[in-house]
Amino acid sequence: MRSLIDILDLTVEEIDELMHVACDIINNPWKYSEMCRGKKLATLFFEPSTRTRLSFEAAMLELGGSVLGFSEASTSSAAKGESVADTAKVMSAYCDIIAMRHPKEGAPLVAARNATVPVINGGDGGHCHPTQTLTDLLTIFREKGRLSDITIGFCGDLKFGRTVHSLIHALCRYTGIKVILISPEELKVPNYVKNENAFEYEETTSLEEAIPKLDVLYMTRIQKERFETDEEYERLKDSYVLTPEKLENAKEDMCILHPLPRVNEISVAVDKDPRACYFRQVANGKYIRMALILKLLEEARQDGNPALDDSEYIKGVHRCFNPRCITSCEQEIEHMFKVSHSGAHRCVYCEARAREL
Ligand code: NCD
Repeated sequence: MRSLIDILDLTVEEIDELMHVACDIINNPWKYSEMCRGKKLATLFFEPSTRTRLSFEAAMLELGGSVLGFSEASTSSAAKGESVADTAKVMSAYCDIIAMRHPKEGAPLVAARNATVPVINGGDGGHCHPTQTLTDLLTIFREKGRLSDITIGFCGDLKFGRTVHSLIHALCRYTGIKVILISPEELKVPNYVKNENAFEYEETTSLEEAIPKLDVLYMTRIQKERFETDEEYERLKDSYVLTPEKLENAKEDMCILHPLPRVNEISVAVDKDPRACYFRQVANGKYIRMALILKLLEEARQDGNPALDDSEYIKGVHRCFNPRCITSCEQEIEHMFKVSHSGAHRCVYCEARAREL
């Protein structure tokens, strides 16, 4: 069963095709308004969300389908201790496709391995967020007319910002991409993101120094919910604030992106600058999710539900010790590892490095 768990589950050609369909939906919405008649999308959100959940729901409704689901773990049987695997099996009986967000890294993969319908990862802990990446790519493409030859600055919480990790993975497959990573020392991009992707990057703590070089500035929120102590969050929360003054040195056609929600990192005064793209980015999210739902439902119709193939995974030799991984809280999940590009053994759920048993 084809699911979307990581942005690298899609080839560059498939992403191009999704963007092509999204643009066609934008121009001819009436053509698509009955395409999912009789189909149901379930949104299983174990973590707060506005855009991701509601854009999925709006996408399915605009395709003529229906939606069901829950928006907090406390109103689902997870509160009674039900496993992600069981929830996925149960929901497969009620819907045709699942969109899921979960605080534990790798939880949507567990769901995909147990569901009999496609599962879309709507964000797993600090790990990844592939549909936000599709949204970001469509936005860069529509604003700049290209996805290659771009210098992009990521600014803010690059450690826990899952949208940053997925967008870096995706952009590395295009040519002429230069990445400037702007963050406090404590919130730098994790090593696995840097080591597992071949890309040209520099790291800095200074937004002011980086800004004149950028074609795209991707601002992010400091991810309060992932910090171990309130003191640490308080110390770092206002590390970067984009203001009209800071934009004086930026290129005239630089795009400012933000996955939203914004807390304080872009001043409201920036919203009227034509370079502010973040509200147009939100609209793109609905169209690309419409294209994705159509693709996955069509593939499910054609391919049915083939058996899982774990033959490339390494089992029984290592354990994942990442406390944020779904394997740390659901004991019955088998620990499995894959050999990464750099030759390291990494957990298939959260990409943490394996440790020997
Ligand atoms: C992001 C997320 O949930 O990771 N929001 C979103 O999906 N648009 C970014 C964030 O929460 O900071």
